[in-house]
Amino acid sequence: MKFFADTAEIEEIRELADTGLLDGVTTNPSLIHKSGRDFMEVTKEICGIVDGPVSAEVVALDHATMMKEADKLRAIADNVCIKVPLTIDGLKTCRALTDDGTMVNVTLCFSANQALLAAKAGATFISPFVGRHDDNGFDGMELIRDIRLIYDNYLFDTEILVASVRHATHVLESARIGADVMTAPPKVIKALANHILTDKGIEGFMKDWKATGQSIL
Ligand code: E4P
Repeated sequence: MKFFADTAEIEEIRELADTGLLDGVTTNPSLIHKSGRDFMEVTKEICGIVDGPVSAEVVALDHATMMKEADKLRAIADNVCIKVPLTIDGLKTCRALTDDGTMVNVTLCFSANQALLAAKAGATFISPFVGRHDDNGFDGMELIRDIRLIYDNYLFDTEILVASVRHATHVLESARIGADVMTAPPKVIKALANHILTDKGIEGFMKDWKATGQSIL
């Protein structure tokens, strides 16, 4: 499963990229607002740090303007992936862009039927928002299971990008189901490395190693 960082904070992206664990980045208008940075500038900077897809979202709601915005965004770098909302205009834009060889991430997906439409529109990625789905009384992971089943039934090659990931259980379940990608805030990705028994084990080994009086270097 690929790991994308869901952030527009350069330092966080750089730190994760340095670990070799990062396969891409997703941004959205709210994350750009939070970063306080110019959208075009920060997107260019992120594309320079990460080799994989960097999602940049259009903000127009009609197809014609979405296409104009996408033209500006895809000119930033070869690894820009245009993010469009799951609306009829977004799907039309998705088809036009993917026919043209541009990567597209269809975002704000909350139903398996929406995911089916995105695959039919040739989406590179579909982004079901599991955390927001859970928040509204639904089962976000059940949505991922349904999409996996449907995509496998018809051999769609649209990748399932689990979004709005809030905690380690979302990541684990995504991997169990066979999602292709998950995007999460860097702190959630880094926390996956934590285990109390790992910490206790290191503490014990360090204590005993010190007692040997030896050194490796
Ligand atoms: C995905 O591409 C979105 O940017 C993101 O995962 C939304 O997450 P949130 O529900 O935590 O805002």
